[in-house]
Amino acid sequence: MNAPLIRRPIALVGLPGAGKSIVGALLAKRSALPFFDSDAEIERESEETIASLFAVQGESYFRDLERATIDRLLGEAPLILATGGGAMAQAPTRRMLLSRSTTIWLDAPTAVLAARLEDLADRPLLVGNLAERLEALWTERQTCYRTAAYRIDAAPPPDVVVARILDVLAG
Ligand code: S3P
Repeated sequence: MNAPLIRRPIALVGLPGAGKSIVGALLAKRSALPFFDSDAEIERESEETIASLFAVQGESYFRDLERATIDRLLGEAPLILATGGGAMAQAPTRRMLLSRSTTIWLDAPTAVLAARLEDLADRPLLVGNLAERLEALWTERQTCYRTAAYRIDAAPPPDVVVARILDVLAG
């Protein structure tokens, strides 16, 4: 199947471990669009790691940067954007994502997410018991994620997830 014509930005949202970056990069390749990862952009622009932004400046400073970065990336031009897991849980960022992009929630059981998360260095919110932290975040954020335009099962391998996204976008 040919990739459907994508006319506005696509934002992938969901918990850490859902595969937003891997799926996003593959989706961008399949649809010949540029790919951006908001966390990577924040790190590049601030010349700091996410972990150090949280540790030194605090979460609310990070959330301001996240909002400003997503605001900059969401212009008129179509692109694929992988957001950080907490972006949809911040009301102003969520409103921006919902109004200026097609939002896709990548969702999977928290046990699947936990099994994928090896590198916790850049995920300060997950420090502690990983499975419990993910479960708590899922419960806390699910109403925000549910506002996304589409919910896709993110448990299968990335190429399968991308095929499903392309299917729903093709209508
Ligand atoms: C966060 C998720 C991380 C990163 C930061 C905060 C969150 O991104 O933005 O550590 O609040 O869930 P990933 O979803 O790519 O891990």
